[in-house]
Amino acid sequence: MKNTSDEIQSVEDAARKAIADNLFAPRFYTTDFAAMDRLDVEPVRAEWDAMMAEYEGDNNHDHFQRDATFADEVRELADRMSPELRQEFLDFLVSSLTSEFSGCVLYNEIKRNVTNPDIRQLMEYMARDESRHAGFINSSLKDYGLGIDLGNLKRSKHYTYFKPKYIFYATYLSEKIGYARYIRIFRQLEKHPEKRFHPIFRWFQRWCNDEFRHGESFALIMRAHPHLLRGGNQLWIRFFLLAVYATMYVRDHTRPALKQAMGLEPTEYDFDVFRITNEITKQVFPFVLDIDHPAFHDGLARLARCVSKADAGKAAGGLFGKLRQAAWSVAGAAVFARMYLIPVKRHALPATIRMQPAW
Ligand SMILES: [Fe+2]
Ligand SMILES: [Fe+2]
Repeated sequence: MKNTSDEIQSVEDAARKAIADNLFAPRFYTTDFAAMDRLDVEPVRAEWDAMMAEYEGDNNHDHFQRDATFADEVRELADRMSPELRQEFLDFLVSSLTSEFSGCVLYNEIKRNVTNPDIRQLMEYMARDESRHAGFINSSLKDYGLGIDLGNLKRSKHYTYFKPKYIFYATYLSEKIGYARYIRIFRQLEKHPEKRFHPIFRWFQRWCNDEFRHGESFALIMRAHPHLLRGGNQLWIRFFLLAVYATMYVRDHTRPALKQAMGLEPTEYDFDVFRITNEITKQVFPFVLDIDHPAFHDGLARLARCVSKADAGKAAGGLFGKLRQAAWSVAGAAVFARMYLIPVKRHALPATIRMQPAW
């Protein structure tokens, strides 16, 4: 029988979930390759070359391989997972795989379509890393018989067209927030190894250093093209910051069991991640969101409520369910718009752009 719920029970469910297109699912992107080809990193050459040397050194080349105890740990810990946790963990694996593979596909496509040697080389390194990340997650899905056919995903997924500048804002943020999320989890489980319910989390520290470096690449590209960080573009930066933070909050609050199993309270975890991300993004964006503003906290809580009410309407179906879904979606958009107007906190950009993953 076809599974119509949101649960992942079969390999078809996993594939359907990865391909699905909705506001909160990871997307695949395409962009203006000619504009990518015209990028010029000369203004940041010294920092760029240092970063490229790190990519070339490839200190994670042997990291994404399972060690001797991995399979035993998976087996032993499986018994400790409640059905709810197992479901959220599978959902986490599928969405993480989709976003890793999204990066892999985009970076590969850019590489194939430009001749600019700096950009080509960068994209090749980043695609290399993301392909390792995606493969490593997929091997964990395969343990459950839920491996995803990445060729099929690449062919079937809808691609969103983003101008290069939107790619920079969105991808920079997703790499950096990805770092912050993984390192926060790694630190928590380092302190509480008894709460590590799957061995994959042992890989997170060196893994997220790759994501950190990917973010550095986009920071350098944006700082080399400072008009991307001025004037009307700041309205876009503000939009992407809020969209990325709000999406993460809503998603984490719709699957709280995952964080709770690690001994993390979802709201506290999210605000720790916002704090780390705010610190990092000071390297490139001239302001940060005021995450301590009371209206920011209230807005996120309200947004999560609107989304869950809209989902409930959708699940109920029928005309009344659809109307409820529409009404709560409009309410959610209004909350988002009000949050967008909360004043931001400005700062001067640092002379040295690059940062170290020191959290
Ligand atoms: Fe990655
Ligand atoms: Fe990445």
